[in-house]
Amino acid sequence: MKTYIPYRPDGGNLKGLRGQMITFHEDPFLVEDESLCYDYFEDGLVVIQDGIILAAGEYSAIAPLYPDLKDIEIYKDSVIMPGMIDTHVHYVQSPMIGSFGDTLLKWLNQYTFPTESKFRDPEFAKSVAALFMGQILRQGTTTANVFSTTFPCSVDALFEESERYNTRLITGKVLQDRNLPEYLADKSAEESVEQAAELLKKWHGRGRQLYAVIPRFAPTSTPRQLELAGCLYQDNLDKGVYMHTHLDEADDEIEWALSLYPEAENYTDIYKRFNLLGNRSVFAHCCLVKEEEWQILHDYDCGIAHCPSSNLFLGDGMFKIWEAIRNDRPVKVGVGTDVGAGTNFSLIRQLNEAYKVAMLKKHSIGALKSYYMATKGGAKVLHLDDKIGSLEPGYEADIAVIDLKPTDFLEWRMQFNDFILDRLFILQTLSPDNLVKATYVAGKKVYDREREIPLLHASDL
Ligand code: GUN
Ligand code: ZN
Repeated sequence: MKTYIPYRPDGGNLKGLRGQMITFHEDPFLVEDESLCYDYFEDGLVVIQDGIILAAGEYSAIAPLYPDLKDIEIYKDSVIMPGMIDTHVHYVQSPMIGSFGDTLLKWLNQYTFPTESKFRDPEFAKSVAALFMGQILRQGTTTANVFSTTFPCSVDALFEESERYNTRLITGKVLQDRNLPEYLADKSAEESVEQAAELLKKWHGRGRQLYAVIPRFAPTSTPRQLELAGCLYQDNLDKGVYMHTHLDEADDEIEWALSLYPEAENYTDIYKRFNLLGNRSVFAHCCLVKEEEWQILHDYDCGIAHCPSSNLFLGDGMFKIWEAIRNDRPVKVGVGTDVGAGTNFSLIRQLNEAYKVAMLKKHSIGALKSYYMATKGGAKVLHLDDKIGSLEPGYEADIAVIDLKPTDFLEWRMQFNDFILDRLFILQTLSPDNLVKATYVAGKKVYDREREIPLLHASDL
């Protein structure tokens, strides 16, 4: 691993962030020696040029390497960490978050489909995309793997807004051609996948934007649509295109999926039969996965988005992280807010829920594992762990500055714990709304809690 990168005198301005700093390395679910899993610097410095981290480490070791570094922002009572990664969220469900009270399939029909139908209007899509990006950046999330909906304009709206912030973001058109209201359904499998292919061509690799092929879930696609989606994914997998869907969330959903695909051995096998498994396949939920399915997900190097606030809200079931991540056949796991079944945009709040879900079965997930999942673990799920999710030389400078004393009560509470992992655990458990002081995207401070205009597009900075 490089320890630092020399700055380019002909490059952009050097920028430094100084303060307590933490970043994550080896997977603490798999590696017992905690010292290999993270670095913490009491007085840390991260040096950035042209959106890339040149160095990150102890101030006294790093600062002398950059004598021309004058622009240093100092953060007190805070921790500088990698920007967080939301591995599963529906921006189009922002208008219906918190809708009362049903299980998954009824909730989809009653609230989700009517809301998503509004996104046929490009102006509505643009306004919600702007709202959504602001909400995630306020929570220190710098990358999200996002469901749009049927209409191509809902994809364009989110990519365009993401481009203004220069965030690394993944989305795509949702493919859904049966078992949903006509006003939201694709007209034909062929046309829907052609639209997806066009959007892929337009957006994948444009700046930091990345495309995902998104069949909503097996029950809302015909076999023909899954077949074509599998072809599009496999044809573009080596270019870094994703496949994103839902899997094994709730028992009536599984029963329904298997009744529509009776030849499949299990739910995962439905996606396998249509070539939708691969190392850039991301499956949301996986609460009720069977052992033979974990083995397939491991064999294909698929990633999982654990969405605890959503699972609790819909009463889906319990994600068993200790079954997913086993040393003999680990499956990659990140965290997802899954708004609008998820009840907020904060990944740190998801960690609070994830802890409690695991505790119901007497498995305790400490702060090291939690924050790993929200950063480097999420980057691994997305196969972006050579670019984001870590404060290391050569990585893209996506950074969150978390307030260690965001309320009077927390200021008082923190006096009783000095150790950074204890403090992070307290923060996730209490997680107030104004936890994030600043969010940097590719080195630019797009969110600053104290600024007169807290959110600014990268293009305006
Ligand atoms: N399964 C299929 N669609 C959805 C959705 O929008 N939300 C959740 N939580 N599960 C789904
Ligand atoms: Zn979802």
